[in-house]
Amino acid sequence: MLHLKLKALANKIRDKKLRKKVMELMENPTFEINGKQYSGLPLDVSPAGLSHHHCYPGGYVEHVVSTASLALAMCNSVEKVYHGKVNRDLTIAGVLLHDIFKPATYAVSENGSYSSTRLADYIDHLSLVISELVRRDFPLELVHIVSAHHGDYGPIRPHTVEALICHLADLMDSRLNGQVLSAATYLTRKAVGEELRGLTSKEAFEIVYSKAVEGWKGVAKTLEKIKRKREMHKT
Ligand SMILES: [Fe+2]
Ligand SMILES: [Fe+2]
Repeated sequence: MLHLKLKALANKIRDKKLRKKVMELMENPTFEINGKQYSGLPLDVSPAGLSHHHCYPGGYVEHVVSTASLALAMCNSVEKVYHGKVNRDLTIAGVLLHDIFKPATYAVSENGSYSSTRLADYIDHLSLVISELVRRDFPLELVHIVSAHHGDYGPIRPHTVEALICHLADLMDSRLNGQVLSAATYLTRKAVGEELRGLTSKEAFEIVYSKAVEGWKGVAKTLEKIKRKREMHKT
């Protein structure tokens, strides 16, 4: 079943045909290479990165939802402040699909840590999604948005407003998430001498905030709270 937050975002796409195509791919994010079917981790439990950002269960959904909210804020800015035109349908569809095959390149081991699959040694998530979007006959404008989402480091730079928005929102969210995670990891190590395994962004934001408001004492208190919460979830 498709995660409700992803479904709600897909429902914002007004163009029926595009919405249906996006939903189909999100509900069944699989592809075939040499007759072999690949699927990977389910979208709702997958991370969206292995080390720098959203590298915890559920990170994929958080990344897509946050990137969409940043992208829609940029659409508002384009329309309301600059009186420019932007296609929201394409922007939302681009955000929803930009990393759709990342989970297909991740594997989870028994101790819960993530690694990349054998497939990922041969092909990256961007090449996978571009080829599948072309195979499924998605509009060229959407193929462009997705293929340009890595900006200067991808196969093509953004050439449309929608592609630029998708790239910037993606970058902004991954930086925001990654930097808060690394700040929280640093604060945790400094406060208690060890790291907290599998830190989520919600926990990381709490740790960083507690340092700003209550100093090191606040960090230690927040860490205790997080540990207690985790224990409670175990039982
Ligand atoms: Fe990506
Ligand atoms: Fe992304």
